[in-house]
Amino acid sequence: MSDIEKNYEDFISTVSHELRTPLTSIRGFSQTMLASWDKLDDESKKRFLKIIEDQSNRLINLVENMLSATKLSHGKDNLVLKEISIQPVAQMAVSVIKSQYPDKNFVIEIDPKTPYILADKDKFLQIITNLVENAAKYGDENSTIHINTGFSGNEDFVSMKITNTGIGISEEDYDKIFTKFSRLDNPLTRRVQGSGLGLYITKTLVDKMGGKISVKSVPDKNGRYLTTFEILMPASDVEKQARAKCSM
Ligand SMILES: Nc1ncnc2c1ncn2[C@@H]1O[C@H](COP(=O)(O)OP(=O)(O)OP(=O)(O)O)[C@@H](O)[C@H]1O
Ligand SMILES: [Mg+2]
Repeated sequence: MSDIEKNYEDFISTVSHELRTPLTSIRGFSQTMLASWDKLDDESKKRFLKIIEDQSNRLINLVENMLSATKLSHGKDNLVLKEISIQPVAQMAVSVIKSQYPDKNFVIEIDPKTPYILADKDKFLQIITNLVENAAKYGDENSTIHINTGFSGNEDFVSMKITNTGIGISEEDYDKIFTKFSRLDNPLTRRVQGSGLGLYITKTLVDKMGGKISVKSVPDKNGRYLTTFEILMPASDVEKQARAKCSM
């Protein structure tokens, strides 16, 4: 079998598996409701409908992520690079995620001198949303997620860090999590939903815009881990010129 055929087969079997799990659950709970409608109390009906809704959302998220991933790997997704300010985009991402994770606190700290970056605004929003969503999803209950932005050591890049306290990521998995359909095997990942495509899409987009992404997870003093995803985005040239003028 050629590599292409092998990849295709792997892809089909992963996708089928990912689709089957939520579909089986949607079918099971609707069948139970139809067969035992009169015997079920309102509380149970509501609980079953909630599961059906969650699993449908999971399918929609999976299909959207697969479409993004396919478009990216065929290079069909043309980027519109513009000079953008990070602050409003970070705020937009946080307000969406905040409504889905009400137990989490979000602190955005943006150095006011942070230069504009050169990026595609919608794709940059997708990048931050994926990272902030992961921080909320894999962060400890009632914990705080920090979003910090400022200069990186290199003046051509702006650094953005998203940090959460939680179960952490071991060093040998740092590369793995950025590949397609990879989810780490731990009790938390098993409990929360995901397609394992978010970070693959995120890294591909960051790379396409000339940026870099990395992760680091270090133990804190309470026996938990501080996990930080850092993205470096190209600072826009206009800003660089302005800064050069200031220092003249
Ligand atoms: N902040 C984090 N802390 C601990 N583990 C994380 C964190 N972010 C990602 N991971 C691990 O990396 C895996 C891959 O993340 P990724 O965002 O690609 O997929 P996902 O969140 O499982 O699904 P989705 O496609 O919906 O984003 C996760 O399943 C999780 O095991
Ligand atoms: Mg994710």
